[in-house]
Amino acid sequence: MKILAIETSCDETACAVVEDGRRVLSSIVYSQIDEHRLYGGVVPEIASRRHIEQICPVCDKALAGAGLSLSALDAVAVTYAPGLIGALLVGVNFAKGLSFALSKPLIPVHHIRGHIAACYLAHPGLAPPFLCLVVSGGHSHIVEVTGYTSFKVIGKTRDDAAGEAFDKAARVLGLPYPGGVEIDKLAGTASPGAYKLPSPKVDGRPFDMSFSGLKTAVVNLAHNAKQKGEELDTAALAADFSATVADILASRLLAAADQYGYKTIACAGGVSANTQLRERLKRDADAAGIALYLPPLSLCIDNAAMIGAQAFYEYKTGKTANQTLNAYASMAIDMDN
Ligand code: KG4
Ligand code: ZN
Repeated sequence: MKILAIETSCDETACAVVEDGRRVLSSIVYSQIDEHRLYGGVVPEIASRRHIEQICPVCDKALAGAGLSLSALDAVAVTYAPGLIGALLVGVNFAKGLSFALSKPLIPVHHIRGHIAACYLAHPGLAPPFLCLVVSGGHSHIVEVTGYTSFKVIGKTRDDAAGEAFDKAARVLGLPYPGGVEIDKLAGTASPGAYKLPSPKVDGRPFDMSFSGLKTAVVNLAHNAKQKGEELDTAALAADFSATVADILASRLLAAADQYGYKTIACAGGVSANTQLRERLKRDADAAGIALYLPPLSLCIDNAAMIGAQAFYEYKTGKTANQTLNAYASMAIDMDN
């Protein structure tokens, strides 16, 4: 089954053609980051306008890359939640138009479910059940993937998402948006250990996490250094910040795997591209004798191939939408049925 997938939930306009949920025939991503960087973050209205301009050419490139015409497609899939509402609406309306014109099924896909499905594209042998850490700009969840379309959240952030923490800390350190990848690069030039940063626990919720204290600690270090006229070692601080986030995330995931008896774990979402997190997860998983699945970097950040992968499994359970499909800014991963 060949599915054309569309993703416009944030600042990437992406289309892909995916066969039977596992084989990527083409994947095109138009990134708007250079423009949003001028403003230090995503400007929702600009994102919507760029999606409107780019969606047709990106779709054409995806079809050309797959060597297919529209009539060769079996279905159209689209991210319909969660994300920036104006950005999502562009993809949803485009997908509705295509589905109507082609008389092909329309498959709505939850963005975070798509991030998890990125792991299927990279690892043909991976199948539920497994435990997945999903860490993006808006989410930090530990999810039991009990089936391709059944999920249970057993841990989550109490405040900022991990990606949000990276982006905010980067801004304080004077790094450009999006800060996660900039902190990652800078951290690679130094060793952790110079700065002691907090790693708070959530009382009675061992798999929940909190990043706001960590962010405040970075803000305070930067302000104190400025007031005293001292030079902040930004590379060393980036290394300690990354190591602390990696520790918070990896320790929760491994503890949850132990408690719930999972021998297979995965990590997905933009922050799963982080070098220190990937290394720490590999080390911890090896030590615990647990199989770890990570997507390649190109599938960690937003793309449409992951949406095409998840769409296949949603379709197999009978999930399709009609022309009344709407977009939703927020939606829990386990409420999408
Ligand atoms: O999944 P994603 O592309 O979009 C959302 O669904 O939010 O994730 C974007 C987030 C941003 O906060 C970005 O800074 C972070 O992922 N990110 C990283 C890295 N690459 C992207 N964070 C840490 N290290 C990275 N290498
Ligand atoms: Zn995402």
